Amino acid sequence: MDVLFEEGADVVYEDTKYFYLANARNHYQKHASKVRWSDGDRIIDIGSGDGGLTNVLKSFISANYKELIGCDASEELIDIANDKYCDNRTKFVLLNIGDELPEKMKGRFNRVTSCHALNWIINQRQTLQNIYDLLAEDGDCLLMFIAKSALYEAYIAIAKTQKWQPWVKANIQYVTQYQNSQDPVSEVRKLIDGVGFKTVSVDCEELSYVFKSLEYFLRSEEADNPYKIPDGPLLKEFMRELENFLIRRNLLPAFNNTDLINYVVSRIVIYVSK
Ligand SMILES: C[S@@+](CC[C@H](N)C(=O)[O-])C[C@H]1O[C@@H](n2cnc3c(N)ncnc32)[C@H](O)[C@@H]1O
Repeated sequence: MDVLFEEGADVVYEDTKYFYLANARNHYQKHASKVRWSDGDRIIDIGSGDGGLTNVLKSFISANYKELIGCDASEELIDIANDKYCDNRTKFVLLNIGDELPEKMKGRFNRVTSCHALNWIINQRQTLQNIYDLLAEDGDCLLMFIAKSALYEAYIAIAKTQKWQPWVKANIQYVTQYQNSQDPVSEVRKLIDGVGFKTVSVDCEELSYVFKSLEYFLRSEEADNPYKIPDGPLLKEFMRELENFLIRRNLLPAFNNTDLINYVVSRIVIYVSK
């Protein structure tokens, strides 16, 4: 199992930004070489968020790519990404990858990438079909998402309580859709086979992320606030609930008998070609 610390292995993660960044870097270092990156590539990154990881992707693709498009369903994040990272070959566009694709995007891209986003999308079958349709005939595609984590286990439990259900329930079903799966690889593979991709590899990798302390972990979660609970007493109460649950179930155990804590996640890595 890979154990990830911030650069240099002696500093540990302080917020989820680093978590996403480190996970994506580790993923690209391991798997980006599978993709047939070429000069003149048109690349689309799905669920690009604030654009930070689309920008990281640039160090793994051909320097002579033609265009790099990040897409996301959040207009707010698209604006942020364009402000930060737009240039003459890179831009960010609003697109819900689970909806019908605009005709002009079909067959336009040689490469499709995505990090930490596919599990946020309710219609997995349609999403994979759309990814297939985005690809040109020589296209290939590298996708990664988190299938299981201690956090997802906690969110599923908290979503069952009357108090927090209205907040957490909205997107809990799909963010955590593989958490209780006995065999997420087979589930994903079945969906992919139904779409008709040629080369297929689907792997589940377990990784360990080391945080300084439970307090740091919770602080990063509070900053992330995926359920948009209003800042203030209610968010504090939610964080206490989360903390109690994580402690009760020992979901974030000590790392190697130190004060550091060990956050273990399973990520799904998919490489497919058309
Ligand atoms: C956890 S963030 C990941 C962002 C970025 N890729 C990263 O790794 O830092 C998930 C992103 O997927 C986006 N997303 C959720 N559903 C989507 C959909 N149906 N179509 C496109 N993007 C979607 C969210 O808006 C969010 O920006």
